[in-house]
Amino acid sequence: MSEAVRPEDQPVLDVDPASEAFRHNAMPIFQRLLREQPVARLPDGRYLICSHQDVSTALSDHDNYRRPTEWSNARKPEGPFREFGLNNMIGMNPPDHTRFRKAIMRAFAPQRVAALEALIADVTDELIDGMQETGRGDFIEDFALPLPITVICAMLDIPVEDRGLFSSGTAAMLAGLEISTNREELERASAAAGELYTYLHDIARKRERSLGDDLISLLIQHEKADNLSRDEVVWAAITLLIAGHETTTHLIGNGLLALIRNPEEMARLAADPAGLAEGATEEFLRYDPTLYVLFRQAVQDVEMSGVLVPKDSLLILSIAAANRDPAVFEDPDRLDVTRANARQHLTFAAGRHLCAGHAVARLEGRIAFQKLLERLQGFELTAEPVPRNGLMFKGYLSIPISFGSH
Ligand code: HEM
Repeated sequence: MSEAVRPEDQPVLDVDPASEAFRHNAMPIFQRLLREQPVARLPDGRYLICSHQDVSTALSDHDNYRRPTEWSNARKPEGPFREFGLNNMIGMNPPDHTRFRKAIMRAFAPQRVAALEALIADVTDELIDGMQETGRGDFIEDFALPLPITVICAMLDIPVEDRGLFSSGTAAMLAGLEISTNREELERASAAAGELYTYLHDIARKRERSLGDDLISLLIQHEKADNLSRDEVVWAAITLLIAGHETTTHLIGNGLLALIRNPEEMARLAADPAGLAEGATEEFLRYDPTLYVLFRQAVQDVEMSGVLVPKDSLLILSIAAANRDPAVFEDPDRLDVTRANARQHLTFAAGRHLCAGHAVARLEGRIAFQKLLERLQGFELTAEPVPRNGLMFKGYLSIPISFGSH
């Protein structure tokens, strides 16, 4: 630590990660920082962290790094969105996180995840049947959004017909979590959190009279054992709804777009979809991750890549840069659907917050890409895709395509 560069001697990187210029060029900026300044101090004292080693340590060394819970919640106005912030496990530290995690992990027991395979395969086939009728459309609207929504609705046993409410509600809440969020977006996020709360509270009240095999029933059944209040059960269900759909939408959307832009890799995958779809899904998660950044805070003075990062500093961890680190991934900017160590990406985080639903997302990715490439061919963009406007969550609002059938 004594050799580490002290804050007063650290060059300040004059960029604003919340700015439009940064958000629209995030990947090239992160790649340059990874080469030149992997631990970069920003004018307001925050740090941007880019190397795989440092990002991975910040996610898994719980003695030295934690969730910046107070910082995240102070940004939210009083009301339902702040309540969500206080009651969702992603933002928590122990002991509350431990309590929630135990309850939620009941939902992701391996046999429960395996049981979803037939449902995912059926929904995938139905969506492809619909796409085949026209041979063109918006890949997000026609496939990448409805697949995860249908799966998470089935897991929670809530009517998929209400998807309008979840889609607009979760989109508003994700915008409120962004680094660049503004007052208007926070107000919309709060209204959406309130609506989702009322909706799911009502479902939980009805559900307790006829418990089933779904996740809401599971949470209610173990309320006492897991020491969860009814409010906490409702917020946990909302966390699942939010965590479970748009992220997976962008895994599938970003993956297809990467294939369209890399026709040789499309051809390799199309030659053996059953054999390669699982590994290709890992490569999509690495190459263009759904989440570009995560936040952590230094519990005490720490050293990262020879730089002293003072206690309490807020860290912006670049998952996008870590996933392109040449120290871990050979020729990292190349899409390679058979990359042997693609699974070392950090897109599902690591340590105690490791994505609870990673097995579900991986299963959806594998089945989706296998069936898409078995049944369809000749994917082409018919217009430029429309990107989301954030830095944290990365993906597309629309990917207009045409294609043929086998
Ligand atoms: C490609 C899809 C997905 C990606 C990239 C993703 C990514 C992540 C990441 C990075 C975290 C940790 C956030 C942090 O530490 O700050 C997380 C947490 C979580 N994810 Fe996912 N996720 C995906 C899909 C899903 C699905 C399908 C579900 C549920 C069905 C889910 C449920 C959760 C839950 C409950 C947590 C909280 C875990 C905790 O804090 O202990 N995720 N996810």
